[in-house]
Amino acid sequence: MNFNSQNVSSTRKPKTFNNPERFIEGWYWVTPSRNLRVGEVKPITIFGRDLVIYRGKDKRAITLDAYCPHMGAHLAEGKVEGNELRCFFHHWKFDAEGICVDIPCLAEPLPVKLKSWPTAEKYGMIWVWTGETPQQPLPFVPELEIVDCVSALGSHFVTNCHPNVVMVNAIDAQHFNTVHKLLSEFIFDKQELNQNAITFSNISFSDKDSFLIKLIRPFYKNAITYDLCYWYGSTGTVTIGPKFLHFHIMFALRLVEGGKTEGQTIFIAKKRQGIFGWLSNRVVLWLTKILVHYFIQDDTKIFQTIRFDLKTPIKVDQSIMQLINHVERQKPLMWGTWNLARSRDGENRENREKWRDDLVND
Ligand code: FES
Ligand SMILES: [Fe+2]
Repeated sequence: MNFNSQNVSSTRKPKTFNNPERFIEGWYWVTPSRNLRVGEVKPITIFGRDLVIYRGKDKRAITLDAYCPHMGAHLAEGKVEGNELRCFFHHWKFDAEGICVDIPCLAEPLPVKLKSWPTAEKYGMIWVWTGETPQQPLPFVPELEIVDCVSALGSHFVTNCHPNVVMVNAIDAQHFNTVHKLLSEFIFDKQELNQNAITFSNISFSDKDSFLIKLIRPFYKNAITYDLCYWYGSTGTVTIGPKFLHFHIMFALRLVEGGKTEGQTIFIAKKRQGIFGWLSNRVVLWLTKILVHYFIQDDTKIFQTIRFDLKTPIKVDQSIMQLINHVERQKPLMWGTWNLARSRDGENRENREKWRDDLVND
């Protein structure tokens, strides 16, 4: 018997996927919106870079590099004045673009500028784009792209493995049977939404469905929806449920020191209007919360001890390979500096093409 007959292994090792020194340029969650009130400034460190985030009187959240270009004081010691931030040490003041607008002992400010980072808010969360100009929208649930949503923040958590590895779990077809004891078969259809987002939809209609699924099948035409969307290889949305009631969960993850993950779950629902709408929004978000608990509880111990290395992929691991390929083709930045991980752009492009061609099943 040829054990490798279904083997789809590749000869190349991923350079960015599951690499604790790299991350994809993109939007990443920073802190819940409610944690930053008007007039507040806070220190944050993301992907090894120290930043400050503040909210001026116009209510906009602003993210700047942390250290004052005068003498290096941490600007989180400073004070918000209107829509600007004043350094605690010698009172130099910076606007939302990071431009120095006041030096108390000089008649004119000097032409110095702090780096500022694109910042936005969605689903009750503040997000930062880790490059110059955002190339993509904030992560969203594809099905809810153009509708009004309500959301609620779930738990904040840390796991012992890379965000990419956490993301893999939701498309790991084998483990639904072995870990979660679901008897359904999972077959994913993938679509690239854009350079930085990929979707996987379960398209299986299996005879092996569990008794429970068979029982409720007559009430809806299609299999239970199970759709995933991955942004920047690090933030994933899950849409699950029968056709008449979809639940949406976002797992907003970020790489932290030592190749670990800091994450936040966000429950999202289509906004229903009126007083009954308000009530059903609450109920749906509450049900989503219960669902998440079942979704992740059995995986916890895997995330604690895994050393991910897909050395022997088989055919059912195809979606995982597709996700790895998708991550490899995106723009990699270096931990700490946020510079491009590969120096020359040409080389970068060439490498991305290689991933397109070399890896199988994509
Ligand atoms: S260090 Fe900030 S004003 Fe001097
Ligand atoms: Fe799982």
